[in-house]
Amino acid sequence: MKRISIGPKHEMIVQPAFIIGAYSEDKSPDFAPITWVSKTCEEGDENLIVISMYGEKKTRLNVQRTGQFSINLVSTSMLALMDYFGQTSGHDGVKDGMTYTYKKAVCVDAPTLDESRWVCECEVLSSVVTGQSETFFCRVKNVQVDERIDIDARGIDLTQFDPVIYSGNYHSIGEYLGGIGDHYHVGEK
Ligand SMILES: Cc1cc2nc3c(=O)[nH]c(=O)nc-3n(C[C@H](O)[C@H](O)[C@H](O)COP(=O)(O)O)c2cc1C
Repeated sequence: MKRISIGPKHEMIVQPAFIIGAYSEDKSPDFAPITWVSKTCEEGDENLIVISMYGEKKTRLNVQRTGQFSINLVSTSMLALMDYFGQTSGHDGVKDGMTYTYKKAVCVDAPTLDESRWVCECEVLSSVVTGQSETFFCRVKNVQVDERIDIDARGIDLTQFDPVIYSGNYHSIGEYLGGIGDHYHVGEK
């Protein structure tokens, strides 16, 4: 195998796609796919979600104003809905061009999508502006998961969520490959 350099254009940080939900000023829900999501930690074992938004999109303004939002994991059954949310803006009114249902999160004041099998409820701690982007550092207040999925058994097995993976294009995932320590035992050569 010989690698060739292709410049900076095709960098990728690949992970499941997420739809962010936050309330607009009139309490109507707004949802948009945001895939620039990561995490860090301050100290100890409390993780902070890191999420970045570009431009003056409605979701960014809603998150700035309310300080609260939901992260909704996108399964392949939700692909059309995500594609719709990503090509429309809450600035143009409520996104009601497709059918979906939602309800308020349990621990924060933000809408969640009923169809999502994994939802993370977040509260903004701080943010940093870089040019036209804003990156929010957020505390996790609650996680909701489809009751049919047993996360305690072996942690998060993504195959059970059938997520959409976004690399600039949409993909689904293959088989479950085990966990950390299943493929190499420390001390082995
Ligand atoms: C798959 C996908 C991923 C996206 N990820 C991001 C992202 O990480 N950050 C961002 O600022 N916009 C992202 N967008 C763009 C927003 O979803 C899009 O601008 C949307 O129309 C914003 O809607 P709103 O104005 O209601 O917030 C993404 C769009 C798609 C389709």
